Amino acid sequence: MNTEKPQREIEDGKRKYQNDDLVVYWDAKQCSHSGKCWQRLPKVFIPTETPWIKIDDATPEEIIEIIDLCPTDALKYELPQGSRVNPDIAQGPGSVNFIRKSSTEEVQINMVQDGPLVVKGQARIISPKGEILKESNRMVLCACGKSSTRPFCDGSHMR
Ligand code: SF4
Ligand code: FES
Repeated sequence: MNTEKPQREIEDGKRKYQNDDLVVYWDAKQCSHSGKCWQRLPKVFIPTETPWIKIDDATPEEIIEIIDLCPTDALKYELPQGSRVNPDIAQGPGSVNFIRKSSTEEVQINMVQDGPLVVKGQARIISPKGEILKESNRMVLCACGKSSTRPFCDGSHMR
């Protein structure tokens, strides 16, 4: 039995949730509050409770499937040593070890009505000073101007 606490802050808004088979990371600063996680797996992702991720309330495979759908890098997972999860199903875009595809992959940007721009495909955000702000295949960009984490969406368009 794993003795580690189910939730632990690892740094500045980042949280770690762990059991014997799965480690889940959540980065509040990257969350666009799209709701994909709590709409699809409400028994695990409960924003009104603490800890808000109930890692023991679904199979690791179910949680992995949902994290792979997160449109940002807010949710990530990895398998701890000794995990009983088949490693082949833990290699999706939500894996901390996800291998990015070639940069020739087509990038698609979907506009959400009265909301953000959802970027699908490997892309890089460069600041006015030429610094790489983020490089990922999963990004949600603010189009309303209200986000406190611009250029990324933080869900403020819904308030
Ligand atoms: S961005 Fe990811 S973690 Fe945040 S609400 Fe959407 S699916 Fe959940
Ligand atoms: S579009 Fe989401 S905060 Fe601006």
